[in-house]
Amino acid sequence: MAAQNRVLIQGGKVVNDDCSFDADVYVEDGVISQIGKNLQLPGGVKVIDAKEKLVIPGGIDTHTHMQMPFMGTVAVDDFYTGTKAALAGGTTMILDFIIPKRGQSLLEAYDQWKAWAEPKVCCDYSFHMAVTWWNDKVGEEMETITKERGINSFKMFMAYKDVMMLTDAEIYQVFCRCKEIGGLAQVHAENGDLIDECSKKLIALGITGPEGHAMCRPEEVEGEATNRAVTIANRANCPLYVVHVMSKSAADVVSDARKQGKVVFGEPIAAGLGVDGTNYWDKDWRHAAGYVMGPPLREDTTTPAYLMDLLANGDLTCVGTDNCTFNANQKALGKDDFRKIPNGVNGVEDRMSIVWEKGVHSGKLDENKFVAVTSTNAAKVFNLYPRKGRIAVGSDADIVVWDPQATRKISAATHHQAVDFNIFEGQVCHGVPVYVISGGKVVVEDGGHVMVTQGAGKYIPRKPFSDYVYKRIKVRDGLLQPKAVEREPYKGPVIDLNAQP
Ligand code: URP
Ligand code: ZN
Ligand code: ZN
Ligand code: ZN
Repeated sequence: MAAQNRVLIQGGKVVNDDCSFDADVYVEDGVISQIGKNLQLPGGVKVIDAKEKLVIPGGIDTHTHMQMPFMGTVAVDDFYTGTKAALAGGTTMILDFIIPKRGQSLLEAYDQWKAWAEPKVCCDYSFHMAVTWWNDKVGEEMETITKERGINSFKMFMAYKDVMMLTDAEIYQVFCRCKEIGGLAQVHAENGDLIDECSKKLIALGITGPEGHAMCRPEEVEGEATNRAVTIANRANCPLYVVHVMSKSAADVVSDARKQGKVVFGEPIAAGLGVDGTNYWDKDWRHAAGYVMGPPLREDTTTPAYLMDLLANGDLTCVGTDNCTFNANQKALGKDDFRKIPNGVNGVEDRMSIVWEKGVHSGKLDENKFVAVTSTNAAKVFNLYPRKGRIAVGSDADIVVWDPQATRKISAATHHQAVDFNIFEGQVCHGVPVYVISGGKVVVEDGGHVMVTQGAGKYIPRKPFSDYVYKRIKVRDGLLQPKAVEREPYKGPVIDLNAQP
């Protein structure tokens, strides 16, 4: 067996979401095969020195859009550059969104996305499925997608009117279907009707720049939709996962729902934790447009710290990125009308460092909580655990040797992403991945040398009815069955509606 397939990570501190301990970790054929001290090992082993470093489960980015066709163009980071950048930053798995066009078969869209990803993807990956239109056939396909294609999460849009937005009645029906098939319902929570109306008004007033994007989508527009999604999910007794929680208002709705015992999860993203919405008012159009995404970053500069606090206390669950990148000349499609600026920002490469810097270095998260919010919680919610999200014998060898003291400066000039802009430009972060192991292979070495193979990532199918999400739902289903009151039939008189007065 080649030394490539046998790796010993020596002298580090293993960090899982629930404990930390000093141990060596031995990897063979893509799987963690031994953990401990003084391991008995065969010859031909590549040794990695992890002294004074943390040995953590590879990051899982719960929310990406690689090479996504969107707003007339295609996201510039594809499954190659996007996953190469992910690995460079310590993320070893992505969950990307399949987004069928209105009227398109879910299975056909699956085949399309799979064909895009398979030859290019450098790390393991899985898919969420968006439900952008609704009828009985879509409901049937959801079951096939779950049982035969391994997808257990479905995203609905409450925004992007006339493109992907569903009505409340449709959302309720999709949530009911999710519950039947053991899927997790996800929502993009913004009131699409209000955004549409308000943006028309702003354009009429001559406000055409990126600040208009933020003005037509204030916090309450996100908070209202989040509350509506929580209510609809509760009526369907369906578990809910709110993607890209961007505001205090939306985060508070998630937090309150959890206090009320509802099965709701919230996902902040690297952008929302690392930067704020004041950038939309920047005098430089390109700079301001670089931050355009939906829901927008918030003008309230205390928002990122607030979201981090909720992540620290467990009210928010997983950190994604919504990585969906467009170059300057693509953003410029909206130079005269903010409604035409392709929505999306970077994050897949910098997510781990941003969470370490803003969360751990600031004293809000400990190393275990860091692992929980960047990897383990995602593995549990999306039913990948303990194959992913844990350093344990038998788990996939997706491992990061993390230097908590080292720093790096983020810049578009040095990042591995294809996009020509970085929303975190100039930020210095503590926490650097010095080695990254993906599927048992060393893909990032000391000094930041990245050695990836296109197509090496595996598609990871996921089973429905994740315990972490569904145990409570199943019990509630039994308790919530509506029962009619048993009573004698009414035998008295009934008025005749046809009788003339
Ligand atoms: O602006 C964003 N978020 N772009 C990607 C599509 C989405 O809504 O997630
Ligand atoms: Zn979205
Ligand atoms: Zn998204
Ligand atoms: Zn620092």
